[in-house]
Amino acid sequence: MNQLLSKITARSARIGVIGLGYVGLPLAVEFAERGFPVTGFDVDRYKIEQLQQRRNYIQDVDDAVLARQVAAGRLQGTEDFSRIRDMDCVSICVPTPLRKTKDPDLSYIIAAVQQVREYLHPGMLIVLESTTYPGTTDELILPEITSPEYRIGENMFLAFSPERVDPGNPVFKTHNTPKVIGGTTPRCAEIAHALYSQIIDQVVLVSSTRAAEMVKLLENTFRAVNIGLVNEMAVMCERLDVNVWEVIDAAATKPFGFMKFYPGPGLGGHCIPIDPHYLSWKLKTLNYNARFIELAGDINSHMPDFLVQKLGQALNQQRKCYNGSRILLLGIAYKRDVNDLRESPALDLLHLLKAQQADVCYHDPYIPGIQEHELKLKSVVLEEDIFEDTQFTEKVLLPPDPVRISLRQMDAVVVVTDHSCYESAKLIDAIGTDVVLFDARNMIKDRDLTNVYRL
Ligand SMILES: NC(=O)c1ccc[n+]([C@@H]2O[C@H](COP(=O)([O-])OP(=O)(O)OC[C@H]3O[C@@H](n4cnc5c(N)ncnc54)[C@H](O)[C@@H]3O)[C@@H](O)[C@H]2O)c1
Repeated sequence: MNQLLSKITARSARIGVIGLGYVGLPLAVEFAERGFPVTGFDVDRYKIEQLQQRRNYIQDVDDAVLARQVAAGRLQGTEDFSRIRDMDCVSICVPTPLRKTKDPDLSYIIAAVQQVREYLHPGMLIVLESTTYPGTTDELILPEITSPEYRIGENMFLAFSPERVDPGNPVFKTHNTPKVIGGTTPRCAEIAHALYSQIIDQVVLVSSTRAAEMVKLLENTFRAVNIGLVNEMAVMCERLDVNVWEVIDAAATKPFGFMKFYPGPGLGGHCIPIDPHYLSWKLKTLNYNARFIELAGDINSHMPDFLVQKLGQALNQQRKCYNGSRILLLGIAYKRDVNDLRESPALDLLHLLKAQQADVCYHDPYIPGIQEHELKLKSVVLEEDIFEDTQFTEKVLLPPDPVRISLRQMDAVVVVTDHSCYESAKLIDAIGTDVVLFDARNMIKDRDLTNVYRL
Protein backbone atom coordinates (compact mmCIF):
# COMPACT_ATOMS: atom_id res chain seq x y z
CA MET A 1 0.00 0.00 0.00
CA ASN A 2 2.80 2.38 0.90
CA GLN A 3 4.36 1.75 -2.48
CA LEU A 4 1.14 2.68 -4.27
CA LEU A 5 0.74 5.79 -2.12
CA SER A 6 4.30 6.89 -2.88
CA LYS A 7 3.71 6.43 -6.61
CA ILE A 8 0.51 8.46 -6.35
CA THR A 9 2.14 11.33 -4.50
CA ALA A 10 5.11 11.27 -6.89
CA ARG A 11 2.58 11.30 -9.77
CA SER A 12 4.33 8.31 -11.30
CA ALA A 13 1.38 5.94 -10.71
CA ARG A 14 0.21 4.64 -14.09
CA ILE A 15 -3.42 5.57 -14.58
CA GLY A 16 -5.84 3.59 -16.75
CA VAL A 17 -9.17 5.12 -17.72
CA ILE A 18 -11.68 2.65 -19.10
CA GLY A 19 -14.26 4.32 -21.34
CA LEU A 20 -13.14 7.51 -23.08
CA GLY A 21 -16.45 9.33 -23.49
CA TYR A 22 -17.83 12.55 -22.03
CA VAL A 23 -16.61 11.51 -18.57
CA GLY A 24 -13.51 9.42 -19.23
CA LEU A 25 -11.68 11.63 -21.72
CA PRO A 26 -11.72 14.83 -19.60
CA LEU A 27 -10.58 12.76 -16.60
CA ALA A 28 -7.75 11.14 -18.56
CA VAL A 29 -6.61 14.55 -19.87
CA GLU A 30 -6.70 16.02 -16.34
CA PHE A 31 -4.51 13.21 -14.94
CA ALA A 32 -2.06 13.67 -17.84
CA GLU A 33 -1.99 17.45 -17.34
CA ARG A 34 -0.95 16.89 -13.72
CA GLY A 35 1.97 14.73 -14.84
CA PHE A 36 0.60 11.19 -14.49
CA PRO A 37 1.27 8.67 -17.28
CA VAL A 38 -2.23 7.84 -18.55
CA THR A 39 -3.58 5.11 -20.78
CA GLY A 40 -7.16 5.34 -22.01
CA PHE A 41 -8.95 2.11 -22.92
CA ASP A 42 -11.98 1.98 -25.17
CA VAL A 43 -13.77 -0.57 -27.33
CA ASP A 44 -14.62 2.18 -29.83
CA ARG A 45 -11.84 2.17 -32.44
CA TYR A 46 -12.85 5.59 -33.75
CA LYS A 47 -12.13 7.21 -30.38
CA ILE A 48 -8.79 5.45 -30.01
CA GLU A 49 -7.75 6.48 -33.52
CA GLN A 50 -8.78 10.07 -32.87
CA LEU A 51 -6.75 10.12 -29.70
CA GLN A 52 -3.72 8.56 -31.34
CA GLN A 53 -3.93 11.24 -34.04
CA ARG A 54 -4.09 13.90 -31.30
CA ARG A 55 -7.63 14.85 -32.32
CA ASN A 56 -10.09 15.87 -29.68
CA TYR A 57 -13.68 14.62 -30.00
CA ILE A 58 -15.21 15.88 -26.71
CA GLN A 59 -16.35 19.49 -26.61
CA ASP A 60 -15.29 20.18 -23.01
CA VAL A 61 -11.71 19.09 -23.61
CA ASP A 62 -9.26 21.68 -24.87
CA ASP A 63 -7.89 20.64 -28.28
CA ALA A 64 -4.41 22.03 -27.61
CA VAL A 65 -4.11 20.43 -24.17
CA LEU A 66 -5.09 17.02 -25.52
CA ALA A 67 -2.68 17.31 -28.46
CA ARG A 68 0.13 18.39 -26.15
CA GLN A 69 -0.38 15.50 -23.74
CA VAL A 70 -0.56 12.89 -26.51
CA ALA A 71 2.51 14.38 -28.20
CA ALA A 72 4.39 14.27 -24.89
CA GLY A 73 3.50 10.57 -24.55
CA ARG A 74 1.70 11.19 -21.24
CA LEU A 75 -1.67 10.27 -22.73
CA GLN A 76 -2.20 7.22 -24.89
CA GLY A 77 -5.25 5.42 -26.18
CA THR A 78 -5.55 1.71 -26.81
CA GLU A 79 -7.98 -1.11 -27.50
CA ASP A 80 -5.48 -3.58 -26.03
CA PHE A 81 -6.83 -4.37 -22.60
CA SER A 82 -3.82 -6.57 -21.71
CA ARG A 83 -2.09 -3.27 -20.93
CA ILE A 84 -4.21 -3.10 -17.78
CA ARG A 85 -1.55 -5.33 -16.27
CA ASP A 86 0.77 -2.27 -16.27
CA MET A 87 -1.71 0.04 -14.54
CA ASP A 88 -1.54 1.03 -10.87
CA CYS A 89 -4.93 2.75 -10.77
CA VAL A 90 -7.93 2.16 -12.99
CA SER A 91 -11.02 4.39 -13.26
CA ILE A 92 -14.06 2.84 -14.91
CA CYS A 93 -16.17 5.38 -16.85
CA VAL A 94 -18.41 3.22 -19.05
CA PRO A 95 -22.09 3.90 -19.85
CA THR A 96 -24.93 2.88 -17.53
CA PRO A 97 -28.08 3.13 -19.66
CA LEU A 98 -31.54 1.76 -18.99
CA ARG A 99 -33.11 -1.18 -20.72
CA LYS A 100 -36.44 -0.61 -22.50
CA THR A 101 -38.14 -1.85 -19.33
CA LYS A 102 -36.36 0.95 -17.37
CA ASP A 103 -34.23 -1.64 -15.58
CA PRO A 104 -30.51 -0.84 -15.18
CA ASP A 105 -28.26 -2.15 -17.93
CA LEU A 106 -25.04 -3.02 -16.12
CA SER A 107 -23.57 -4.97 -19.04
CA TYR A 108 -20.94 -2.27 -19.72
CA ILE A 109 -19.73 -2.27 -16.12
CA ILE A 110 -19.68 -6.06 -16.06
CA ALA A 111 -17.66 -6.16 -19.30
CA ALA A 112 -15.19 -3.57 -18.00
CA VAL A 113 -14.74 -5.42 -14.73
CA GLN A 114 -14.08 -8.67 -16.60
CA GLN A 115 -11.39 -6.89 -18.62
CA VAL A 116 -9.77 -5.58 -15.42
CA ARG A 117 -10.07 -8.92 -13.65
CA GLU A 118 -8.12 -10.69 -16.38
CA TYR A 119 -5.10 -8.46 -15.80
CA LEU A 120 -5.45 -7.91 -12.05
CA HIS A 121 -2.27 -7.64 -10.03
CA PRO A 122 -1.49 -6.80 -6.41
CA GLY A 123 -1.24 -3.17 -5.35
CA MET A 124 -3.96 -1.92 -7.66
CA LEU A 125 -6.67 0.69 -7.04
CA ILE A 126 -9.94 0.30 -8.95
CA VAL A 127 -12.46 3.16 -8.91
CA LEU A 128 -15.91 2.93 -10.43
CA GLU A 129 -17.11 6.33 -11.71
CA SER A 130 -20.17 5.28 -13.72
CA THR A 131 -23.45 6.31 -12.12
CA THR A 132 -25.28 3.32 -10.67
CA TYR A 133 -27.54 2.12 -7.85
CA PRO A 134 -26.31 1.88 -4.26
CA GLY A 135 -24.62 -1.45 -3.71
CA THR A 136 -23.16 -1.96 -7.18
CA THR A 137 -19.49 -1.56 -6.22
CA ASP A 138 -19.62 -3.91 -3.26
CA GLU A 139 -22.13 -6.40 -4.66
CA LEU A 140 -20.96 -6.61 -8.26
CA ILE A 141 -17.30 -5.63 -8.40
CA LEU A 142 -15.92 -6.65 -5.01
CA PRO A 143 -16.59 -10.41 -5.46
CA GLU A 144 -14.93 -10.28 -8.89
CA ILE A 145 -11.66 -8.88 -7.62
CA THR A 146 -11.38 -10.63 -4.26
CA SER A 147 -9.52 -13.91 -3.81
CA PRO A 148 -7.05 -15.42 -1.36
CA GLU A 149 -4.41 -13.70 -3.48
CA TYR A 150 -6.13 -10.30 -3.59
CA ARG A 151 -7.26 -8.97 -0.22
CA ILE A 152 -9.32 -5.79 -0.24
CA GLY A 153 -7.77 -3.01 1.82
CA GLU A 154 -4.42 -4.82 1.95
CA ASN A 155 -3.09 -5.38 -1.55
CA MET A 156 -6.16 -4.52 -3.62
CA PHE A 157 -8.21 -1.33 -3.30
CA LEU A 158 -11.71 -0.53 -4.45
CA ALA A 159 -13.72 2.72 -4.34
CA PHE A 160 -16.69 4.46 -5.91
CA SER A 161 -16.47 8.08 -6.94
CA PRO A 162 -19.38 9.58 -8.86
CA GLU A 163 -18.59 11.78 -11.81
CA ARG A 164 -20.24 15.20 -11.69
CA VAL A 165 -19.05 16.68 -14.98
CA ASP A 166 -21.54 19.19 -16.39
CA PRO A 167 -20.98 19.25 -20.17
CA GLY A 168 -20.87 22.77 -21.58
CA ASN A 169 -20.32 24.40 -18.18
CA PRO A 170 -17.69 27.11 -18.75
CA VAL A 171 -16.86 27.49 -15.03
CA PHE A 172 -16.92 24.08 -13.40
CA LYS A 173 -14.52 21.59 -14.97
CA THR A 174 -12.99 18.37 -13.66
CA HIS A 175 -10.39 20.04 -11.42
CA ASN A 176 -12.69 22.52 -9.63
CA THR A 177 -15.79 20.37 -9.18
CA PRO A 178 -15.58 18.77 -5.71
CA LYS A 179 -15.40 14.99 -5.91
CA VAL A 180 -17.08 12.55 -3.53
CA ILE A 181 -15.38 9.25 -2.71
CA GLY A 182 -16.41 6.19 -0.74
CA GLY A 183 -14.06 3.23 -0.25
CA THR A 184 -14.86 -0.42 0.36
CA THR A 185 -12.55 -0.15 3.40
CA PRO A 186 -11.00 2.91 5.11
CA ARG A 187 -7.68 2.13 3.41
CA CYS A 188 -9.35 1.96 0.03
CA ALA A 189 -10.88 5.38 0.71
CA GLU A 190 -7.53 6.74 1.86
CA ILE A 191 -5.77 5.68 -1.35
CA ALA A 192 -8.56 6.88 -3.64
CA HIS A 193 -8.58 10.18 -1.75
CA ALA A 194 -4.81 10.49 -2.22
CA LEU A 195 -5.17 9.89 -5.95
CA TYR A 196 -8.00 12.29 -6.71
CA SER A 197 -6.52 14.99 -4.45
CA GLN A 198 -3.69 15.20 -6.95
CA ILE A 199 -6.00 16.49 -9.65
CA ILE A 200 -9.10 17.88 -7.92
CA ASP A 201 -9.23 20.89 -5.61
CA GLN A 202 -11.67 19.40 -3.09
CA VAL A 203 -12.25 15.72 -2.35
CA VAL A 204 -15.08 14.78 0.00
CA LEU A 205 -14.88 11.42 1.75
CA VAL A 206 -18.03 9.51 2.73
CA SER A 207 -18.16 6.38 4.84
CA SER A 208 -18.86 3.76 2.16
CA THR A 209 -19.16 3.08 -1.55
CA ARG A 210 -22.91 2.75 -1.03
CA ALA A 211 -23.13 6.28 0.43
CA ALA A 212 -21.08 7.66 -2.48
CA GLU A 213 -23.38 5.91 -4.97
CA MET A 214 -26.40 7.38 -3.19
CA VAL A 215 -24.93 10.92 -3.24
CA LYS A 216 -24.96 10.96 -7.03
CA LEU A 217 -28.51 9.63 -7.14
CA LEU A 218 -29.71 12.23 -4.65
CA GLU A 219 -28.16 14.99 -6.79
CA ASN A 220 -29.76 13.82 -10.00
CA THR A 221 -33.08 12.83 -8.45
CA PHE A 222 -33.22 16.32 -6.91
CA ARG A 223 -32.95 17.78 -10.40
CA ALA A 224 -35.41 15.36 -12.01
CA VAL A 225 -38.02 15.95 -9.30
CA ASN A 226 -37.69 19.74 -9.33
CA ILE A 227 -37.85 19.84 -13.12
CA GLY A 228 -40.90 17.58 -12.89
CA LEU A 229 -42.49 19.98 -10.41
CA VAL A 230 -41.91 23.03 -12.58
CA ASN A 231 -43.06 21.16 -15.69
CA GLU A 232 -46.30 20.36 -13.92
CA MET A 233 -46.52 24.04 -12.95
CA ALA A 234 -46.36 24.85 -16.67
CA VAL A 235 -49.22 22.43 -17.35
CA MET A 236 -51.27 23.94 -14.49
CA CYS A 237 -50.49 27.52 -15.57
CA GLU A 238 -51.76 26.68 -19.05
CA ARG A 239 -55.13 25.69 -17.58
CA LEU A 240 -55.19 28.82 -15.43
CA ASP A 241 -54.11 31.09 -18.30
CA VAL A 242 -51.10 32.28 -16.31
CA ASN A 243 -47.62 32.81 -17.73
CA VAL A 244 -45.43 30.25 -15.94
CA TRP A 245 -42.18 32.05 -16.82
CA GLU A 246 -43.38 35.25 -15.22
CA VAL A 247 -44.41 33.32 -12.11
CA ILE A 248 -41.02 31.61 -11.78
CA ASP A 249 -39.03 34.82 -12.25
CA ALA A 250 -41.15 36.61 -9.65
CA ALA A 251 -40.87 33.69 -7.19
CA ALA A 252 -37.11 33.71 -7.67
CA THR A 253 -36.90 37.23 -6.20
CA LYS A 254 -37.36 35.57 -2.80
CA PRO A 255 -33.81 35.56 -1.47
CA PHE A 256 -34.14 32.34 0.55
CA GLY A 257 -35.99 29.03 0.45
CA PHE A 258 -36.60 28.99 -3.30
CA MET A 259 -34.45 27.66 -6.11
CA LYS A 260 -35.22 28.42 -9.74
CA PHE A 261 -35.96 25.61 -12.19
CA TYR A 262 -37.52 26.11 -15.63
CA PRO A 263 -39.97 24.02 -17.61
CA GLY A 264 -38.96 22.69 -21.00
CA PRO A 265 -39.76 20.24 -23.76
CA GLY A 266 -38.64 17.27 -21.62
CA LEU A 267 -35.54 15.77 -20.05
CA GLY A 268 -32.44 14.75 -21.96
CA GLY A 269 -28.85 13.60 -21.63
CA HIS A 270 -27.31 10.47 -20.21
CA CYS A 271 -27.97 11.42 -16.57
CA ILE A 272 -31.17 13.10 -15.37
CA PRO A 273 -33.72 11.00 -17.32
CA ILE A 274 -31.89 7.77 -16.44
CA ASP A 275 -30.13 7.85 -13.08
CA PRO A 276 -33.20 8.19 -10.80
CA HIS A 277 -34.58 4.99 -12.34
CA TYR A 278 -31.48 3.13 -11.10
CA LEU A 279 -32.50 4.10 -7.58
CA SER A 280 -36.14 3.33 -8.12
CA TRP A 281 -35.27 -0.12 -9.56
CA LYS A 282 -33.07 -0.92 -6.57
CA LEU A 283 -35.81 0.12 -4.15
CA LYS A 284 -38.31 -2.10 -5.95
CA THR A 285 -36.09 -5.07 -5.11
CA LEU A 286 -36.51 -3.97 -1.47
CA ASN A 287 -40.27 -3.76 -1.84
CA TYR A 288 -40.38 0.02 -1.79
CA ASN A 289 -41.95 2.26 -4.40
CA ALA A 290 -39.92 5.44 -5.04
CA ARG A 291 -42.96 7.64 -5.66
CA PHE A 292 -41.31 11.00 -6.33
CA ILE A 293 -39.07 9.44 -8.97
CA GLU A 294 -41.91 7.67 -10.75
CA LEU A 295 -44.13 10.77 -10.71
CA ALA A 296 -41.38 13.09 -11.95
CA GLY A 297 -40.49 10.57 -14.67
CA ASP A 298 -44.11 10.43 -15.76
CA ILE A 299 -44.53 14.22 -15.91
CA ASN A 300 -41.19 14.88 -17.59
CA SER A 301 -41.62 12.19 -20.22
CA HIS A 302 -45.00 13.63 -21.22
CA MET A 303 -43.69 17.14 -21.88
CA PRO A 304 -43.14 16.49 -25.61
CA ASP A 305 -46.86 15.51 -25.86
CA PHE A 306 -47.81 18.71 -24.05
CA LEU A 307 -45.69 20.75 -26.42
CA VAL A 308 -47.21 19.08 -29.49
CA GLN A 309 -50.68 19.76 -28.13
CA LYS A 310 -49.88 23.46 -27.54
CA LEU A 311 -48.18 23.85 -30.91
CA GLY A 312 -51.26 22.31 -32.56
CA GLN A 313 -53.43 24.95 -30.85
CA ALA A 314 -51.07 27.70 -32.04
CA LEU A 315 -51.24 26.45 -35.64
CA ASN A 316 -54.99 26.22 -35.33
CA GLN A 317 -55.21 29.86 -34.33
CA GLN A 318 -53.39 30.68 -37.56
CA ARG A 319 -55.91 28.54 -39.51
CA LYS A 320 -53.31 25.84 -40.09
CA CYS A 321 -53.20 22.17 -39.20
CA TYR A 322 -50.39 19.71 -38.63
CA ASN A 323 -50.97 17.70 -41.79
CA GLY A 324 -48.49 19.04 -44.36
CA SER A 325 -47.27 21.92 -42.18
CA ARG A 326 -43.58 22.71 -42.52
CA ILE A 327 -42.07 22.80 -39.05
CA LEU A 328 -38.50 23.68 -38.18
CA LEU A 329 -37.03 22.63 -34.82
CA LEU A 330 -34.32 25.07 -33.73
CA GLY A 331 -31.74 23.28 -31.55
CA ILE A 332 -32.10 19.57 -30.96
CA ALA A 333 -29.20 18.81 -28.58
CA TYR A 334 -30.50 17.85 -25.14
CA LYS A 335 -29.33 21.15 -23.68
CA ARG A 336 -27.81 24.47 -24.62
CA ASP A 337 -24.38 24.58 -26.28
CA VAL A 338 -23.64 20.85 -26.24
CA ASN A 339 -23.35 18.40 -29.14
CA ASP A 340 -25.02 15.55 -27.26
CA LEU A 341 -28.29 14.14 -28.58
CA ARG A 342 -28.67 11.31 -26.08
CA GLU A 343 -32.25 11.06 -24.75
CA SER A 344 -32.98 14.51 -26.21
CA PRO A 345 -36.69 15.38 -26.10
CA ALA A 346 -36.24 16.72 -29.65
CA LEU A 347 -36.15 13.10 -30.82
CA ASP A 348 -39.56 12.48 -29.26
CA LEU A 349 -40.83 15.69 -30.83
CA LEU A 350 -39.62 14.65 -34.27
CA HIS A 351 -41.48 11.35 -33.95
CA LEU A 352 -44.65 12.94 -32.60
CA LEU A 353 -44.72 15.63 -35.29
CA LYS A 354 -44.09 13.13 -38.05
CA ALA A 355 -46.95 11.05 -36.68
CA GLN A 356 -49.11 14.16 -37.15
CA GLN A 357 -48.06 14.18 -40.85
CA ALA A 358 -46.05 17.37 -40.41
CA ASP A 359 -43.08 18.00 -42.67
CA VAL A 360 -40.28 18.42 -40.11
CA CYS A 361 -36.69 19.59 -40.40
CA TYR A 362 -34.21 20.89 -37.86
CA HIS A 363 -31.33 23.29 -37.44
CA ASP A 364 -28.59 22.67 -34.93
CA PRO A 365 -25.06 23.96 -35.42
CA TYR A 366 -23.75 21.25 -33.10
CA ILE A 367 -25.51 18.29 -34.69
CA PRO A 368 -25.06 17.88 -38.45
CA GLY A 369 -27.17 14.76 -38.73
CA ILE A 370 -29.34 12.24 -36.89
CA GLN A 371 -28.83 8.58 -37.60
CA GLU A 372 -30.84 6.91 -34.91
CA HIS A 373 -34.29 5.68 -33.99
CA GLU A 374 -35.03 5.06 -37.70
CA LEU A 375 -34.75 8.86 -38.13
CA LYS A 376 -32.29 9.93 -40.73
CA LEU A 377 -32.23 13.71 -41.02
CA LYS A 378 -29.63 16.28 -41.88
CA SER A 379 -29.52 19.69 -40.27
CA VAL A 380 -30.72 22.40 -42.65
CA VAL A 381 -28.80 25.60 -43.32
CA LEU A 382 -30.71 28.85 -42.87
CA GLU A 383 -30.92 31.56 -45.52
CA GLU A 384 -31.35 34.17 -42.81
CA ASP A 385 -28.79 35.28 -40.26
CA ILE A 386 -30.17 34.64 -36.79
CA PHE A 387 -26.84 34.27 -35.05
CA GLU A 388 -25.07 36.27 -32.36
CA ASP A 389 -21.86 35.86 -34.27
CA THR A 390 -22.32 35.65 -38.02
CA GLN A 391 -19.19 33.52 -38.28
CA PHE A 392 -20.70 30.99 -35.94
CA THR A 393 -22.12 28.50 -38.42
CA GLU A 394 -18.86 28.49 -40.33
CA LYS A 395 -16.97 27.31 -37.25
CA VAL A 396 -19.22 24.44 -36.36
CA LEU A 397 -20.32 21.31 -38.07
CA LEU A 398 -22.23 21.59 -41.32
CA PRO A 399 -23.84 18.60 -42.98
CA PRO A 400 -22.45 17.56 -46.35
CA ASP A 401 -24.58 18.89 -49.26
CA PRO A 402 -26.59 21.11 -46.92
CA VAL A 403 -30.22 21.86 -47.71
CA ARG A 404 -30.92 25.59 -47.50
CA ILE A 405 -34.26 26.79 -46.25
CA SER A 406 -35.76 30.15 -45.48
CA LEU A 407 -37.52 30.64 -42.16
CA ARG A 408 -40.40 32.34 -43.95
CA GLN A 409 -41.11 29.14 -45.89
CA MET A 410 -42.04 27.49 -42.59
CA ASP A 411 -45.45 27.26 -40.99
CA ALA A 412 -43.90 27.02 -37.54
CA VAL A 413 -40.46 27.38 -35.97
CA VAL A 414 -40.00 25.76 -32.56
CA VAL A 415 -37.17 26.78 -30.22
CA VAL A 416 -36.43 23.41 -28.63
CA THR A 417 -32.90 24.13 -27.41
CA ASP A 418 -31.85 27.75 -26.99
CA HIS A 419 -28.21 27.50 -28.00
CA SER A 420 -26.49 30.76 -27.13
CA CYS A 421 -25.56 31.30 -30.79
CA TYR A 422 -29.20 32.09 -31.58
CA GLU A 423 -30.10 35.74 -31.20
CA SER A 424 -33.72 36.34 -30.37
CA ALA A 425 -34.06 39.82 -31.99
CA LYS A 426 -32.64 38.57 -35.28
CA LEU A 427 -34.87 35.50 -35.13
CA ILE A 428 -37.99 37.64 -34.69
CA ASP A 429 -36.98 39.90 -37.59
CA ALA A 430 -36.19 36.96 -39.83
CA ILE A 431 -39.44 35.14 -39.12
CA GLY A 432 -41.81 38.03 -39.74
CA THR A 433 -45.39 37.90 -38.51
CA ASP A 434 -46.93 35.00 -40.45
CA VAL A 435 -44.89 32.09 -39.14
CA VAL A 436 -45.78 30.60 -35.75
CA LEU A 437 -42.82 30.94 -33.41
CA PHE A 438 -43.18 28.45 -30.58
CA ASP A 439 -40.72 29.07 -27.79
CA ALA A 440 -40.17 26.12 -25.43
CA ARG A 441 -37.33 27.89 -23.56
CA ASN A 442 -38.55 31.44 -22.98
CA MET A 443 -35.86 32.76 -25.28
CA ILE A 444 -38.12 35.44 -26.78
CA LYS A 445 -38.68 38.07 -24.12
CA ASP A 446 -41.01 40.31 -26.15
CA ARG A 447 -44.46 39.36 -24.90
CA ASP A 448 -46.56 41.45 -27.31
CA LEU A 449 -45.85 39.57 -30.51
CA THR A 450 -49.01 37.84 -31.72
CA ASN A 451 -47.27 35.02 -33.58
CA VAL A 452 -45.10 34.00 -30.59
CA TYR A 453 -46.39 31.19 -28.36
CA ARG A 454 -44.72 29.81 -25.26
CA LEU A 455 -44.64 26.50 -23.46
N1 LIG B 1 -22.23 12.60 -19.72
C1 LIG B 1 -22.38 13.17 -18.55
O1 LIG B 1 -22.69 14.36 -18.48
C2 LIG B 1 -22.18 12.41 -17.25
C3 LIG B 1 -22.05 13.15 -16.08
C4 LIG B 1 -21.86 12.48 -14.89
C5 LIG B 1 -21.83 11.08 -14.88
N2 LIG B 1 -21.97 10.37 -16.03
C6 LIG B 1 -21.90 8.91 -15.96
O2 LIG B 1 -20.63 8.50 -16.42
C7 LIG B 1 -20.73 7.26 -17.12
C8 LIG B 1 -20.17 7.41 -18.51
O3 LIG B 1 -20.95 8.36 -19.23
P1 LIG B 1 -20.44 9.07 -20.55
O4 LIG B 1 -21.38 10.18 -20.80
O5 LIG B 1 -18.98 9.36 -20.46
O6 LIG B 1 -20.68 7.90 -21.61
P2 LIG B 1 -20.07 7.83 -23.09
O7 LIG B 1 -20.96 6.95 -23.86
O8 LIG B 1 -19.78 9.21 -23.59
O9 LIG B 1 -18.66 7.13 -22.88
C9 LIG B 1 -18.52 5.81 -22.46
C10 LIG B 1 -17.37 5.18 -23.22
O10 LIG B 1 -17.18 3.86 -22.73
C11 LIG B 1 -16.82 3.04 -23.83
N3 LIG B 1 -17.02 1.65 -23.44
C12 LIG B 1 -18.16 0.94 -23.38
N4 LIG B 1 -17.90 -0.31 -22.95
C13 LIG B 1 -16.57 -0.39 -22.73
C14 LIG B 1 -15.71 -1.39 -22.28
N5 LIG B 1 -16.17 -2.60 -21.93
N6 LIG B 1 -14.39 -1.14 -22.19
C15 LIG B 1 -13.91 0.08 -22.54
N7 LIG B 1 -14.68 1.10 -22.96
C16 LIG B 1 -16.00 0.87 -23.06
C17 LIG B 1 -17.70 3.54 -24.96
O11 LIG B 1 -17.19 3.14 -26.21
C18 LIG B 1 -17.63 5.05 -24.72
O12 LIG B 1 -16.57 5.62 -25.43
C19 LIG B 1 -22.22 6.88 -17.08
O13 LIG B 1 -22.45 6.05 -15.99
C20 LIG B 1 -22.90 8.22 -16.87
O14 LIG B 1 -24.14 8.07 -16.22
C21 LIG B 1 -22.11 11.03 -17.22
